[in-house]
Amino acid sequence: MGSGPSGSLHRREADFTRPDFKCEPVTRVFDLQRIAQQTQLQHIEYHETLDSTNKLAAGLADQLLPVCPALVLTASQTAGRGRGSNNWLATEGALTFSVVYDRKTIGLSPQRLPQLSLAAGVAVRQAICERTDRPCLVKWPNDVLVNEQKICGILTEQHRTSGGEIIVVGIGINVNNSLTATAVDFRTSATSLYDATGQLFDLTDTLIATVNQLNASIRLLSDRPREFFAKLNRFSQLNGRDVEIDDGTRTITGRCLGVDDDGRLLLDQGGAHARVIAGTVVRW
Ligand code: BTN
Repeated sequence: MGSGPSGSLHRREADFTRPDFKCEPVTRVFDLQRIAQQTQLQHIEYHETLDSTNKLAAGLADQLLPVCPALVLTASQTAGRGRGSNNWLATEGALTFSVVYDRKTIGLSPQRLPQLSLAAGVAVRQAICERTDRPCLVKWPNDVLVNEQKICGILTEQHRTSGGEIIVVGIGINVNNSLTATAVDFRTSATSLYDATGQLFDLTDTLIATVNQLNASIRLLSDRPREFFAKLNRFSQLNGRDVEIDDGTRTITGRCLGVDDDGRLLLDQGGAHARVIAGTVVRW
């Protein structure tokens, strides 16, 4: 659990008059009141420092289920989790948060749920494109890149609660932090909005834009999936590239033709087609 100013905010309490509300409406880094007013979030769980927003969301699953969609937000994440056994390193100025949905009301069928990371990728890309004209693309299955360097990672998880199930969409975006002083393999493969543009960005605005784009992206995936995948394919980093995918049991190679309407990566293997449901892109 985190330390420092923390608290939670329900939509109906957005006037911050509740005596037990321990959190300032404007924290050192975020304007929580504006986030509550300019999104459809029903609850904000803010902690100045946290090990992982996804971990706290999982720990609070029972309490968060009735107040979804909810946001778990921190200004400083100390032990961020990535896919598999990876860590997610976030220094000051990075945006790290989790949006928590009720499985029953998110509006996605069970077949569409694995595609949620792609919906989040499209949403983050859109929010980034509203802020910079640097080339920004989605890299299947859960990254967003600027100038071909990773700027955002997405970790989607599902947890049972006593009353149902929550879905946690964890998003880490390198915004005002710089990666130029990190290890050489890291700084060549990753970037931030600051590194890419030389400018600083309002974290509250960037968060609000991303959360609202996430809603829009989930709606599009749910209501008009063909349109969603056509949009994804317009902004897909891997399309046209020779790629190597580790699907957990073997390595699959081929030229990427795009993402199909079921979220699978479509590869041309010299005339034959392969469809990859899930995996890690090891070369591209
Ligand atoms: C990856 O690229 O492997 C996924 C990284 C996901 C990082 C985000 S930061 C906010 C949320 N909380 C976590 O612990 N992880 C996700």
